[in-house]
Amino acid sequence: MPMHSTNSLFRWTLAAATLAVLMPVSGCRQDMQNQPKMIPQRESSFFASGRSVRPQVLGSVARGQLDADTYFYTGMIDKKEQDAMPFPVTMTVLKRGQERFDIYCTPCHSRVGNGRGMIVERGYKPAGNFQAAIIRSKPLSHYFRVMTSGYGAMPDYAAQLTPQDRWAIAAYIRALQLSQNATLEDVPPGTNIQTLAEVSQQMGYSPNFPDEWTVPELTNVPSASDMKSDIDAGKKMPAKTQNAPKNNSSIKGAR
Ligand code: HEC
Repeated sequence: MPMHSTNSLFRWTLAAATLAVLMPVSGCRQDMQNQPKMIPQRESSFFASGRSVRPQVLGSVARGQLDADTYFYTGMIDKKEQDAMPFPVTMTVLKRGQERFDIYCTPCHSRVGNGRGMIVERGYKPAGNFQAAIIRSKPLSHYFRVMTSGYGAMPDYAAQLTPQDRWAIAAYIRALQLSQNATLEDVPPGTNIQTLAEVSQQMGYSPNFPDEWTVPELTNVPSASDMKSDIDAGKKMPAKTQNAPKNNSSIKGAR
């Protein structure tokens, strides 16, 4: 019996070796280029329906995509925006909202939310001023929805901000609005009340520091005619570079 098994091992080895030699010759290719797999949406003869995938069982939900808390994910109840948070607002939530707001919203809306961020100051469509009565009067979930879907010229931030972060920012927008519309009744009794101008002076700034600011007009930006002297100087350059600007219509027009 041991004789037999050695013998059969020898025969198998021989067969495998022969196959390895013959395979490239016969052109049989079972490599990465030609794999037994289904490509999404491609038809297949495997199932009677001709599909390569099975239809989803009705009501099945992919793991992590249940989204059962409709208000948390959509900001809507009965197709209406609501003035409510889907979770309690704590100081941590507000701080997180402030941090995300300062990253994603301030370029257009500015740190105080007046809609005069750097990008707007330099020519972007005016962004909403969160202090404007019309925006202040909107229910809280409106802000969540603006971030989720975008609004007019404003792009959406659904990819950059999780629903949780969008809600935290919405809460922070309310805090910004409160901060600039506080009344004397909001101040605990006995608190020393100062104006912003007074606070600014104490901090070493001018009293008008908290006023609306503007960015100075851009100066020293060369105009087309300013380029003329550069172009004239270019004529003294070697012929190869000298010819290049002639095809550029904007430079021609400047002459
Ligand atoms: C690229 C510039 C830009 C950025 C960044 C931006 N916004 Fe806006 N936002 C706008 C513009 C522009 C409008 C006005 C849109 C319009 O009226 O067409 C606007 C309007 C709004 C409004 C008012 C909507 C209304 O009902 O009138 C809210 C609220 C708002 N943005 C929230 C945010 C929040 C929160 C962020 C940060 C996650 C943000 N925006 C980031 C440009 C921007």
